[in-house]
Amino acid sequence: MSILTRIFGSKKEQVKLFYNTDIHCHILPGVDHGSRSIEQSLDMLRAEQEMGISRVILTSHVTAVTFENTRETLMDAFLKLKDAVTDAGLEMDLYLSAEYRMDEYFDKEYAADHLIPMPGNHILLENSFQQELMNLNDLLFDMQVKGYKTILAHPERYTYYSRRRKRYEELHNAGARFQINILSFTGYFGEEARESALWFAKNGMIDYLGSDMHNVKHAHIIMDYLNSKEWKKLSRDLEQTVKNDLII
Ligand SMILES: [Fe+2]
Repeated sequence: MSILTRIFGSKKEQVKLFYNTDIHCHILPGVDHGSRSIEQSLDMLRAEQEMGISRVILTSHVTAVTFENTRETLMDAFLKLKDAVTDAGLEMDLYLSAEYRMDEYFDKEYAADHLIPMPGNHILLENSFQQELMNLNDLLFDMQVKGYKTILAHPERYTYYSRRRKRYEELHNAGARFQINILSFTGYFGEEARESALWFAKNGMIDYLGSDMHNVKHAHIIMDYLNSKEWKKLSRDLEQTVKNDLII
């Protein structure tokens, strides 16, 4: 629904996603720079529902210094949100996990076996936006040996890869799975990220899609995009590779 149709109230049918599980979002309230309150979280979940999502994996940031979340901080917010969802009569299955930035805080949490995986032992990993982690291949290997299934969050957003896309193939061959943000297709993160996202789609390398929504505005941008001709065409190809609903 565009801003104008929202204001003037002429209802256009919202195009739904072809899957029911959002594996990446910042809807958990008060633990990172996503949702700031239960009310905002409920609005975001209602938007998810409008897009056809019925299962949401909550992947709040876990990063050194800025968001040093623990199992306790996340679980506390999770239980509060679950209660609020029940009270609001919203039909939405919630799962707790996190988006782990590969940094020194992650190293500690990983060594202490404190990670909160998604169902199926999937872990959402985020690179630094400045440069790739030096020993990324070693870490991926180590995690896979320990039984984790590693998913790289929004690889299309790291501009240091866009000039050497062969690296994406290497990482995929090393067992990393790729989660692309729908927002990247819209141009929200710039032309370079959009072009990379389209490159992943063209090469059949999108394993998962995510909203990565931090607020309701993000949800509305995605909803508008789902009604576009580009998405209609693109989603037909994406259905062949995207496995969101197989996680749970
Ligand atoms: Fe995220």
